[in-house]
Amino acid sequence: MAEGTQLIRGLEGVVAAETRLCDLDGANGRLAYGGYDIADLAKRASFEEVCHLLWRGELPTRGEYDDLVVSLVAARDIPKPLLDMLRLAPKNTDPNRPFQAAIAMLGCWDPDADDNSPAANHRKAVRLTAQLPVVVAAYHRMRSGQEIVPPAPDLSHAANFLYMLTGKRQGAAAVKAIDASLTLYAEHELNASTFTARVITSTNSDMHSAVAGGHGALKGPLHGGAGEAVMRTLIEIGEVANVDAFAQKALAEKRRLMGFGHRVYTAGDPRAAILKGMAEDACRQSGQFKWYEMAVKLNDRINAAKKLIPNVDFYSAPLFYSLGIPVDIFTPVIAIARVAGWTANIIEQHADNRLIRPRGDYVGPARRTFTPIEQRGTDGHVGKR
Ligand code: CMC
Repeated sequence: MAEGTQLIRGLEGVVAAETRLCDLDGANGRLAYGGYDIADLAKRASFEEVCHLLWRGELPTRGEYDDLVVSLVAARDIPKPLLDMLRLAPKNTDPNRPFQAAIAMLGCWDPDADDNSPAANHRKAVRLTAQLPVVVAAYHRMRSGQEIVPPAPDLSHAANFLYMLTGKRQGAAAVKAIDASLTLYAEHELNASTFTARVITSTNSDMHSAVAGGHGALKGPLHGGAGEAVMRTLIEIGEVANVDAFAQKALAEKRRLMGFGHRVYTAGDPRAAILKGMAEDACRQSGQFKWYEMAVKLNDRINAAKKLIPNVDFYSAPLFYSLGIPVDIFTPVIAIARVAGWTANIIEQHADNRLIRPRGDYVGPARRTFTPIEQRGTDGHVGKR
């Protein structure tokens, strides 16, 4: 290891980049993108406006907004051979796998695939953001034996996603809930997937590779995969009356409870507070209020016993579920939001790049003399050659 450095497990507290994108104040539970508080953005801006803010540094004027919407709508098609590839995936596989492969493969058809200039990266950010919801919806419909629903040019990003997924134009409340969720998930500083995307970018690799790598990190249950795990926990609990017994057992077993805890937030995750309200409305609306009640009760019990805070993935789980999103595509849905942040971070990394290459602290055997294989004996060999 280099002199003067020390091991920092999990890189906790390490600052690895300057960023203008996201201001995360963990001690006070505050989050802002480009200076705008996340609560204002979730409530009053559309996801398209947030994309502009992340990619361009400013909220769009009306004209800029209209231009971005036109570009996003125009970029919604995905190549037919990609659909064929998705169709070949086993029906019961984890959807994150074909989804991640699809991100990388989209680069095969992108005219700017190998161009890392700011203009090309901006065009790719628009295309990837437009295409990923199409991939998720098309894949889900194909695997469940339904016709693919082509994108509707008159619908917003969020409304169109729900439409392509369900085959129905959804009401304003559901669309707003998804739109706000996309905003809340769009960006989060140097989380594991964004850091992964930055590491890949730092080698001067390309945006599709970095986003595909980012998704590989996102799908882990300690990161974006937690939302899916939260819903599986709620389903395992089953009824509000079972929460106490479940919580007691989980605490006694020292079980890691998905959707709780955070590396940076100590005073609560501001996204969770907003999602909680949206989950309450959506669960009531869908006639499945018990998922919300169970989540609140579980949160109370775990917080009282361990002081663990609910993170962004805790209340998004009952929210997504009551909006009809299949549990195993929760993480790809988070990715269709986070792609805005990943691509913005990739653009920022290219603008001030240095290869990200930390050191390892060697703890293996001291230098020793090499012995040729013929002289190493046969101990431990169990079969006949
Ligand atoms: N359930 C039970 N105990 C927990 C949890 C949890 N969810 N989170 C932290 N702890 C305990 C942990 O057991 C440890 O206790 P002790 O010191 O007694 O051994 C202590 O808290 C510190 O844990 P850690 O794993 O060192 O803390 P970390 O900063 O590395 O963990 C975390 C952050 C998010 C990985 C962790 O809280 C966790 O595993 N949470 C569950 C998974 C999850 O919800 N992930 C989503 C995170 S937010 C969204 C995102 O990033 O996408």
